[in-house]
Amino acid sequence: MNLQGRKILLGITGSIAAYKCVHLVRLLTKQGASVKVVLTPAAKDFVSPLALSTLSKNEVLIDLFEENTWANHVQLGRWADVMLIAPLSCNTLVKMAHGHCDNLLLSVYLSATCPVVVAPAMDEDMWHHPTTQRNIATLHQDGVTIIPPTRGELASGLFGDGRMAEPEDIVNFLNEFFTKHKDLSGKKVLITAGPTHEALDPVRFIGNHSSGKMGIALAKECHERGAAVTLVLGPVPLPQVYDGITVIKVTSADEMYQACHEHFSNAAIAIMAAAVADYKPEIVSPKKIKKTDDDVPEIKLVKTKDILKSLGAIKQENQILVGFALETDNEKNNALEKLKTKNADFIVLNSMNDGTPFGSDYNKITIYAKDGREIAFSPKPKTEVAKDIINTILNNHQTETV
Ligand code: CTP
Repeated sequence: MNLQGRKILLGITGSIAAYKCVHLVRLLTKQGASVKVVLTPAAKDFVSPLALSTLSKNEVLIDLFEENTWANHVQLGRWADVMLIAPLSCNTLVKMAHGHCDNLLLSVYLSATCPVVVAPAMDEDMWHHPTTQRNIATLHQDGVTIIPPTRGELASGLFGDGRMAEPEDIVNFLNEFFTKHKDLSGKKVLITAGPTHEALDPVRFIGNHSSGKMGIALAKECHERGAAVTLVLGPVPLPQVYDGITVIKVTSADEMYQACHEHFSNAAIAIMAAAVADYKPEIVSPKKIKKTDDDVPEIKLVKTKDILKSLGAIKQENQILVGFALETDNEKNNALEKLKTKNADFIVLNSMNDGTPFGSDYNKITIYAKDGREIAFSPKPKTEVAKDIINTILNNHQTETV
């Protein structure tokens, strides 16, 4: 089932078919989807917000401003994997086609970054009217997916085209929609995550605070989008449940380098999210280094291999290479320098000054692309950041090849 774990934002407009949405929400949640509901003010005359919030287990939103609080339409559109507007009334269709924005549902539509699917419902003559068909064509051109209305008994008592697709059919449509939306299907993706530990002796190492959460979120996102993911994972303390992802556990930078070079040649995308140690002890003591009364040991360090740079040197035209840059100062220049010297296609900048420390579930990033673009994102959970990174890589890649 493709709806398991999917986030569906259901927009309901003022049409008699709205009563079917209670059943629709039930079907969606039964398949494991998370559902949030937004109503137009007219819709609440046709369906009970209480029934919808009880079944979706989420507050139902109607107004842009409620009791002095502002409903964040941008966040809703970014939360969702898909925005489904069902039923779509003739009135809301007109407003969507012309960019009107006089209620919460329309504001969410205009700011949604997720795909939008609509299931129109209206009387036959309205549906076939040239104006309606023009508006439907406009939505289609704007990238909205239409679930066509079906033929049957209509609210007017007439028989004809215009009935909203049945909730079961909408659920089937969404299942198929998500199958098709596996935009990384058939692609191999290589990802590094976590820190590396560079041994000093059998009990000590040089390491860093990386939690691996960002790289793991990227691996999960790519897997969900249909990629065959190989995750080269440094020593992290997180519970290890990565169904469907090939995980290669490594400890040192040398081991990470080795694993990456074994899997890079057939990867369409390689994302180096690991915090690799830059230096390692030249000599690893085979025995525990003992404390002595007089001497403080001096440890000579040597450079580790730069994995990202080494992959950049052998990268083929059709491969996308993404690096991270963790900076405390001079962030932009350092990120751009890394983009160039490591021959990456994208550098994802994490600034230590953004209040999202190591181990946090949140991240604030700016992406620098090889073609000069700079895209800054607001702070958000790493699962959402992973989506932003993948969307940016895929969109930019498409524009590069057009
Ligand atoms: N990286 C790598 N191999 C290394 C060091 C870094 O592959 N030995 C990768 C990281 O995974 C990241 C990028 O290079 O994608 C930048 O890492 P970062 O530590 O920010 O930069 P460095 O090149 O190590 O430079 P500095 O530490 O001086 O900022």
